[in-house]
Amino acid sequence: MKYPIVKPLLPQLDKYQTYIEQIFERNYLTNQGPCVEALQKKLAEYLEVDYLLLVSNGTQALHVAYAVMGIKNVITTPFTFAATPGSLAFQNIDFRFSDIDESTFNLCPQQIKQQDLVWADAILPVHVFGNPCDVESIQRLAQLHNLKVIYDAAHCFGSKYDIGSLLKYGDCATLSLHATKLFHCVEGGAVIFKCKADFERAKQLINFGQNTQNIPVSAGTNAKLSEVHGAMGLALFEHVNEILAHRQQLFEYYCGKLVGVVKLQQWHPLGKPNGAYMPVLLGSEALLESVQKCLSNQGIQTRRYFYPSLNSVTSYRHNSKMPISDDISSRVLCLPMYYDLTKVDVDIICDALQIAIKNY
Ligand SMILES: Cc1ncc(COP(=O)(O)O)c(C=O)c1O
Repeated sequence: MKYPIVKPLLPQLDKYQTYIEQIFERNYLTNQGPCVEALQKKLAEYLEVDYLLLVSNGTQALHVAYAVMGIKNVITTPFTFAATPGSLAFQNIDFRFSDIDESTFNLCPQQIKQQDLVWADAILPVHVFGNPCDVESIQRLAQLHNLKVIYDAAHCFGSKYDIGSLLKYGDCATLSLHATKLFHCVEGGAVIFKCKADFERAKQLINFGQNTQNIPVSAGTNAKLSEVHGAMGLALFEHVNEILAHRQQLFEYYCGKLVGVVKLQQWHPLGKPNGAYMPVLLGSEALLESVQKCLSNQGIQTRRYFYPSLNSVTSYRHNSKMPISDDISSRVLCLPMYYDLTKVDVDIICDALQIAIKNY
């Protein structure tokens, strides 16, 4: 494909090599080593959060968040990646879907209110494609009903809300640092906590539940990030501002070109897009299928993300009707978005999209 849907960003090899050589010299490969510690500190500062813990991937970040919050009955969104409800199901946490807002694609607070909030002990919203949820309304609901809020912020590296970081909202938030993400460690993730005690507890949990004397004081898991992964993060971190700025520009450029061609996700008025994804909403599923085929024939890869709406997936035993998520999921298509893309590439992709729609 001339234009893949994503293209993992690699640092300059010599930069990565320098970190790898240091790892070889130290012969210290994992267990919260110097690369991971350094990256953790840099990311906490950069993302303007107090308590950020690096873990082995975004799914483990969710697992750790659930364990620290001690949740059992969760309300979440069906318009997300399999990792969100899949991690709940895997931990035998009971969950119910609530429908989304048709414009923002995020959990709709009005719909959450319709749920049994006496049954629930937590809300797990996803900031879909990096777009901030209605964090204020969700916070009010959570306070009123004594619920924990865990944001799956897998797409939110560098996302802003008002003048600060979006990652500050909720009792905790999780990031994915997977190779396909805006910023990555090949595989990696992070949990951001509001409170220090939760952060300290998570540090034990990701290390088999052991305390600083290596005594297991609770059940735990192994979710540590290795030094080799940390090194990738450190090498890429040197370019983090350029990466973010370029993707934000691409996103704005795409949006400008697509006005009047397709519908776009409505961004929160206080949010600033990070350029993580480029979703478009087509008029019907039949049109989407035709457009996808037509673009593919021209070497432009697209992705139905998120499809299907996860309420319809029988393995979660939750095949309830979620009319808005079902509809949005059938019509959303993500266009290529990655650092190597140029505005000329965006012109080519948008022109091809426009012609594909016209010819339908
Ligand atoms: C919304 C969402 N949550 C969680 C994850 C899982 O992250 P990871 O692949 O790092 O485990 C993803 C991955 O893309 C995601 O899109």
